[in-house]
Amino acid sequence: MAIIEVPWIQLPKPKENYELLKNGKKGVVFKLSQQYVGKILYKMKGEDYWLRDDNAAIEELAYEENINKILYEACIGNVPKPMGIEKLGIYGKTYPVFIMEYIKNLPHGDALLTPYDQYIAESLVKKEAYQTAGIDLFPGKDYLHPWNYFYDKDKGIVRLIDFGRWTMGDVLISPYDTE
Ligand SMILES: Nc1ncnc2c1ncn2[C@@H]1O[C@H](COP(=O)(O)OP(=O)(O)O)[C@@H](O)[C@H]1O
Ligand SMILES: [Mg+2]
Repeated sequence: MAIIEVPWIQLPKPKENYELLKNGKKGVVFKLSQQYVGKILYKMKGEDYWLRDDNAAIEELAYEENINKILYEACIGNVPKPMGIEKLGIYGKTYPVFIMEYIKNLPHGDALLTPYDQYIAESLVKKEAYQTAGIDLFPGKDYLHPWNYFYDKDKGIVRLIDFGRWTMGDVLISPYDTE
């Protein structure tokens, strides 16, 4: 049984066997199987934190999933295959979770050995991101954050993740940035 534990979040022992991968500022990402991960949103105030099950959380995840899907279908960014929004039960409660392909065994931008590799990876991220103007999508201000992409050096590609702060069409501010 996996214990879900991250530096600033201590969750009680989960009943389920989900392994926590890493968390960003908004989301906690769990490994659900060899193929899939799930992203749940959380909030924290001071020492306090909680996983979100409010309607706004569902909307934010659906917003992110939609952008992920558009990118996936446009073959831009080598993004994870989006699977959908489901309810996931943890500690007797259910939480909305965005299920997507698990991107395995690739380093994030800040885990690259040489500055040259980092430079190449970042250039590839920009190259992918700039294509999105053609489909009326705009990268979020954190798109170049090294935790928001993986670098596959062998294939010479980057794989972008985390689209909560991206915008599209007439939506100038994403729901993630409106609070
Ligand atoms: N599809 C994925 N496959 C593997 N790891 C992932 C995937 N999606 C997210 N992660 C991991 O979880 C972390 C947090 O996810 P992210 O979507 O960036 O959340 P946040 O919105 O909080 O920044 C990422 O930096 C990455 O390490
Ligand atoms: Mg992130």
